[in-house]
Amino acid sequence: MPLIPLEELAADLICPRCGGSLTPAESSYDCRAGCGHAYAVVGGHPVLVDFDQSILVETDVKSGAARSVIERGEQGLKRRIIRSLLPTNQVAASNALQFTALAKSLSDRPRVLIVGGGSKGEGTAELYADPAPRLVSFDIYASDFTQFVADAHRIPLADGSVDAMWIQAVLEHVLDPWRVVGEIHRVLRPGGIVYAETPFLQAVHEGAYDFTRFTESGHRWLFRQFDEIDSGVVLGPAAQLLGSVEHVTRGITRSVAAGVTVKLALFWLRYFDRWIPRSHASDAASAVYFLGRRSDSAIGPKEMIAYYKGGHSRR
Ligand SMILES: C[S@@+](CC[C@H](N)C(=O)[O-])C[C@H]1O[C@@H](n2cnc3c(N)ncnc32)[C@H](O)[C@@H]1O
Ligand SMILES: [Zn+2]
Repeated sequence: MPLIPLEELAADLICPRCGGSLTPAESSYDCRAGCGHAYAVVGGHPVLVDFDQSILVETDVKSGAARSVIERGEQGLKRRIIRSLLPTNQVAASNALQFTALAKSLSDRPRVLIVGGGSKGEGTAELYADPAPRLVSFDIYASDFTQFVADAHRIPLADGSVDAMWIQAVLEHVLDPWRVVGEIHRVLRPGGIVYAETPFLQAVHEGAYDFTRFTESGHRWLFRQFDEIDSGVVLGPAAQLLGSVEHVTRGITRSVAAGVTVKLALFWLRYFDRWIPRSHASDAASAVYFLGRRSDSAIGPKEMIAYYKGGHSRR
């Protein structure tokens, strides 16, 4: 797991309250030049969070060793068998290769930041296996796959300090995705690369920590300060249909197991996505992706009408 040591990042760590640079102390990171706040190290991770502006609760983080408040089960054999029958992300692996190649075109050893990287996303194996990227990762909880705890609404890294950023299945979980993308823009260097995957038609997951969905056009507008390199559908309408069938069953029976059983019985529906063209898939996708390059200018509102990629007829 090639995450860079935290010391290598120290010069670019900033205070999420005031933006001042942080100084590592014995058991904290201190904002000596700015507001004076000291950030504790909990569960081996510096917790660089402005709790007054976050859904995270300071006492819970400290008493719970910065562990996830949501249960995140191990990938046991049963889970892996179930997963193998269900629709899988068809695009992330090849997009990760393109993303990594673009990052490497900016620097031999690009600094790549993974936002919400508490678990490794689907299709990211090649990204983690590539020895060139200097990986940095954070989440709102401490994990073996992260170096620090932070809230993406206030990323504790200096302006322009990162070459590329990966944010997969995270923007639906933040209260203000527009602010988070503003932070991505701030932290990326000029011409830096971003890759985002975000749900469009999916049921609520992660309970109380799930807030927003995006159409492909809405996702483009979210990333309006970026030039588009590529965008598309992560999982199509048939994958979405399976999710809906699961939740209709779960709702009628009040049983999670019944929902999963019916979904598994209908697993063959996943293959219908093969016959749905990209345009129609975009209109009813389960999730969408955007790969872009940081720009100094934004696209305008009128460009959004021409941007539409769905299958509705245009007049
Ligand atoms: C559905 S999981 C996806 C995790 C991983 N990116 C993947 O693809 O497997 C959503 C992740 O977003 C993280 N998250 C939620 N709110 C966040 C925030 N404000 N800042 C950073 N990460 C956040 C969650 O803790 C969780 O790890
Ligand atoms: Zn400060």
